[in-house]
Amino acid sequence: MRPSDLTSLKQKGQPIAVLTAWDSLSAALAEAAGADVLLVGDSLAMVALGHATTLPVTLDQMLHHTQAVARGLTSMPADQPLLVCDLPFLSYQCGEDRAVAAAGRLLKESSAAGVKLEGAEPEVIAVIDRLVRMGIPVMGHLGLTPQAVHRLGYRRQATDAISQERLIDQARSLERNGCFSLVLEHVPAKLASRVQQALTIPVIGIGAGDGCDGQVRVTADLLGLTPKQPPFSQALVDGRQLFIEALKGWVSQTRNHTPPTTGSPRSTPDC
Ligand code: KIV
Repeated sequence: MRPSDLTSLKQKGQPIAVLTAWDSLSAALAEAAGADVLLVGDSLAMVALGHATTLPVTLDQMLHHTQAVARGLTSMPADQPLLVCDLPFLSYQCGEDRAVAAAGRLLKESSAAGVKLEGAEPEVIAVIDRLVRMGIPVMGHLGLTPQAVHRLGYRRQATDAISQERLIDQARSLERNGCFSLVLEHVPAKLASRVQQALTIPVIGIGAGDGCDGQVRVTADLLGLTPKQPPFSQALVDGRQLFIEALKGWVSQTRNHTPPTTGSPRSTPDC
């Protein structure tokens, strides 16, 4: 999958499925599930590294995790999902040269084929313009932008008419400046549908209703693994409880020297 293939999916009206991955295990699961795009989101700061926000994760850490994600993919390169990596906080806010160096490193030292960054302030637009001209595909991100948590909080965004018109203008500006797709997070569903109609690039929603061209979810949220579930992302399975119960069973069997009570298709006989 290439960035431009996503636009073809939008044109065909084929919904786009984007899942996050943070290591080779999560990548293999998301690939086996058939995701079109794997996003190594900076949410890995919270999901995998135990931070309270996305701000502390570094470029080196994002690269380390992206390389692990790439190693988890098993299909032939042409059949693999598109791999996109978030540019972490402060890797693109300090000028275009530093942004090109950061994004270029991700593409040079991993098989990521695009980067995602947040916002559409004039400085960010200048960065996007430069990255795109340097051959680096960029996915935009508007609405709730977690790197601005200290300014915006984790609240739903663009709830009044003025901020809605501003968001539509920003989305148009991202498209004009070469973004190949746009993530819209935690905004009213009607607004997301208006953006979807206004743009030719695909709009990928999370907490933005069903009217987008695709959906993105943090895989750990879908699997019920994160301690705190975002209000707009329902778990499909209570993975945390399921795994804790399985491990409790193993701990108890180990302490009591009892053999496993049930087999599973993946259990191996004791040597
Ligand atoms: O970091 C992330 O996982 C994201 C998604 C929620 C879109 O940006």
